[in-house]
Amino acid sequence: KNIVILISGGGSNMRALVEAARREGWEQRWGARISAVISNRADSAGLAWAREQGLATAVLSHRDFESREAFDAALAQVIDGHQPSWVLLAGFMRILTPGFVARYEGRLINIHPSLLPAFTGLDTHRRAIEAGCAVAGATVHRVTAVLDHGQILGQAVVPIVAGDTPERLAARVLSQEHRLYPSVVARLLAQG
Ligand code: GRF
Repeated sequence: KNIVILISGGGSNMRALVEAARREGWEQRWGARISAVISNRADSAGLAWAREQGLATAVLSHRDFESREAFDAALAQVIDGHQPSWVLLAGFMRILTPGFVARYEGRLINIHPSLLPAFTGLDTHRRAIEAGCAVAGATVHRVTAVLDHGQILGQAVVPIVAGDTPERLAARVLSQEHRLYPSVVARLLAQG
């Protein structure tokens, strides 16, 4: 069971997944291995870390393609080379075409930094603070063609405190993401 992870930036969620897989023995327990980390940005810090860990990596820059469809088709080709059972989006900041989503239906998962269905899209922490929410958090969900929708597989709740800033809240949510995402993936693997 191969797992492919797509990132765009720091890759801290990808790192949490790789480390949990090792620590918890995903390969021994469920035959699950993280076979590749793919980034749409050559300068993503997460990619360098993945390389150092000896993981297979690939870069596919969306700027080299004329359309979203062309980028997604090329991305699918790289992904399919690894024959993944699961494709995990971990801070992958590109909107995927319906065709791409359909190709991986049921095995395409994302983590989003809000308590969905509230605050889809960007800038979630600032919006949650400005709305006066008492809690924020993160959601792991199945990906559908509608951005940040799809079945919710797990959530982590993080209180918003007086005087919170988007940056401080984001840091607290991110550390919960690092627990949430691996635990949801482990549960999916255990379910076969
Ligand atoms: C995370 O907050 C993720 O939920 C969001 O982007 C951030 C990515 O962080 N979509 P990282 O690249 O995993 O460090």
